Amino acid sequence: MRTGLHALTASGGVSFSKQAVVISYHSVSNAKRPIRLVRYIVLVGGIFFGVILPGALDAIAQKGVPEGISLPTNLRVRDTTGWWPTKGSAAREQYVGNAECAKCHSSKAVSYEAAAMSHAAVRAEDSQLAQENSLELQLGRYRYQLPNLEGKSSLKVSDAKTSAAERLTWAFGVGHMGQTYLYEKDGSYYETHVSFYAAIKALDITPGQSRDVPASLETAVGRRMPSEEAQRCFGCHTTASTIKGQFDPSDLTPGVTCEACHGPGAEHVAAARSGIPGLSEALILNPRHMDRVDAVDFCGACHRTWEDVLTTGQGLGVFNVRFAPYRLENSDCWKQGDDRITCTACHDPHEPLSHDVGSYDATCRQCHSASSSKSSTGQAPAVCSVETKNCVTCHMPKYEPPGLHSSFTDHWIRVVRAHDSYPE
Ligand code: HEC
Ligand code: HEC
Ligand code: HEC
Ligand code: HEC
Ligand code: HEC
Ligand code: HEC
Ligand code: HEC
Repeated sequence: MRTGLHALTASGGVSFSKQAVVISYHSVSNAKRPIRLVRYIVLVGGIFFGVILPGALDAIAQKGVPEGISLPTNLRVRDTTGWWPTKGSAAREQYVGNAECAKCHSSKAVSYEAAAMSHAAVRAEDSQLAQENSLELQLGRYRYQLPNLEGKSSLKVSDAKTSAAERLTWAFGVGHMGQTYLYEKDGSYYETHVSFYAAIKALDITPGQSRDVPASLETAVGRRMPSEEAQRCFGCHTTASTIKGQFDPSDLTPGVTCEACHGPGAEHVAAARSGIPGLSEALILNPRHMDRVDAVDFCGACHRTWEDVLTTGQGLGVFNVRFAPYRLENSDCWKQGDDRITCTACHDPHEPLSHDVGSYDATCRQCHSASSSKSSTGQAPAVCSVETKNCVTCHMPKYEPPGLHSSFTDHWIRVVRAHDSYPE
């Protein structure tokens, strides 16, 4: 097995070197995955060298990637023959927009309009948040003003001698936690050094940026993003920003639309209109048919898959509480292999997030109740000796990573004891 990995890495054709690191990490935390991942690497390696290894074929799923393994999103996007969120392979004219979907799926379209994801980015001039709250921040010698009084959607930064202002073009995040702004300069996107935070209704340093006082006025305004990074931001917060593999944000649709998840819909719509039975379903991706690992990786295309968190090194400390797929797949509830605990077991992606803690009980009780059916592995999960309702309040605690001014729900479902440290 390892030989296949080495051969592939040595070929230099694919960036699998990171995978080797992941495998050693995994063998500590989850015995099943490394074996499967190595299988995948051998499989891809086999195809790469024009040899299909005996026994490897059974791992090929219909859509080009093997089943049952959490994968890094870049592999999903590269190897899935059909659609995968953030893929960006389609032509502009293959997208029809939410209004078109609404003609036949009106109830989903109406409820989704109220969901945060559908407003994950807006053009800066359409952002109410910053404009409603006249925002100012003093950071060392720099004074920030948002909006700059002279122009509705500009960020102005001044020191004792001079000032700089940039016209903002994009506001990322509907603002449940906060909102970060982008501007363009010399052909690049820049991320503002400060962001709006909802809980404090104020500006503070943007997540991921240094908390040191910036060295110059220019860096005080914002940070230039390498174009691949900008492409990734737009890939998760907007739709059709990458066209036929090229980053082309000129004509994107802000927010995560129906087609960001289901794939471009022109052919599906044409088939539905043609009335040929069964054809339209074949031309649109329905994640309902996925196995549980694919289903969670699907949301993980943007929420980061279990593998993404490890391969990109984002997995460190309490900041990884943001990455629900990673946390959930570490739970005992997940590890038994039962299908009834994907993201959609608790969240309908077409509806706004429910803040009613009791609304999650039914999902827990499906498995944890005296009358619950056994899991697919034959074991009946334990029943709580402490409470019969509001399960998530004790077993899915909230954490506030430093500097984010917002708490996130820990999807690593578990018994939490006082003085327990945060499990990574
Ligand atoms: C002209 C009507 C029409 C339009 C417009 C339309 N659909 Fe559909 N859609 C259908 C029909 C009919 C079905 C099959 C029956 C059903 O599940 O309702 C379907 C099924 C689906 C399914 C489930 C497929 C399956 O495998 O079961 C998804 C997902 C879907 N549509 C998404 C979309 C999206 C996204 C859009 C916009 C890009 C869209 N539809 C636009 C008519 C339409
Ligand atoms: C194309 C990228 C993308 C995909 C795929 C995706 N999400 Fe999201 N999701 C986002 C972004 C971006 C946000 C942040 C929206 C905001 O607050 O601005 C988000 C936010 C959310 C929220 C929080 C909503 C709130 O009110 O704070 C939930 C819950 C959620 N997503 C569930 C899911 C589930 C379940 C899936 C899979 C079925 C999924 N997402 C797939 C991009 C995505
Ligand atoms: C891999 C996909 C992905 C990338 C890349 C990404 N985001 Fe997000 N973003 C998400 C998801 C999913 C959420 C919701 C969960 C969370 O808050 O972590 C989110 C949440 C946010 C929020 C908070 C939204 C709210 O309602 O409070 C902001 C602000 C944000 N992102 C800005 C950005 C900016 C700016 C970039 C690029 C520099 C970026 N994101 C890159 C997926 C992504
Ligand atoms: C964040 C990703 C995401 C977005 C955005 C999204 N969907 Fe879905 N959709 C899903 C998932 C996941 C399922 C499968 C649901 C399940 O397993 O319960 C689904 C299922 C469906 C189905 C099939 C329902 C069934 O019973 O099989 C239709 C139709 C559909 N979506 C239409 C839409 C329309 C229309 C929009 C836009 C208004 C939309 N979706 C936006 C993720 C998404
Ligand atoms: C067992 C139930 C359950 C499952 C499964 C689940 N969630 Fe959640 N999720 C919750 C609860 C409870 C909240 C907090 C709701 C609130 O705000 O009160 C939440 C909140 C969120 C939020 C909002 C930010 C936060 O951390 O509070 C996002 C984003 C999210 N979930 C994404 C996902 C994704 C992606 C998956 C699949 C990997 C998933 N969830 C699976 C129960 C679940
Ligand atoms: C798909 C079935 C399933 C669902 C849904 C599910 N669990 Fe579990 N859960 C399990 C299994 C299986 C175990 C491990 C065996 C056991 O504890 O009996 C487990 C273990 C646990 C444990 C013990 C973990 C530890 O740290 O010792 C707690 C607590 C728990 N679940 C709470 C919940 C809560 C709360 C929910 C809803 C938010 C939930 N579970 C949803 C199947 C599930
Ligand atoms: C008030 C907080 C609280 C609530 C609410 C709560 N639990 Fe618990 N639960 C606990 C504590 C504390 C333990 C550990 C008990 C012990 O070990 O003595 C526990 C234990 C468990 C266990 C592990 C049992 C075992 O023997 O391994 C499961 C499973 C569980 N709870 C599920 C649930 C479910 C499902 C709900 C909702 C119906 C729920 N809990 C509601 C606090 C709570």
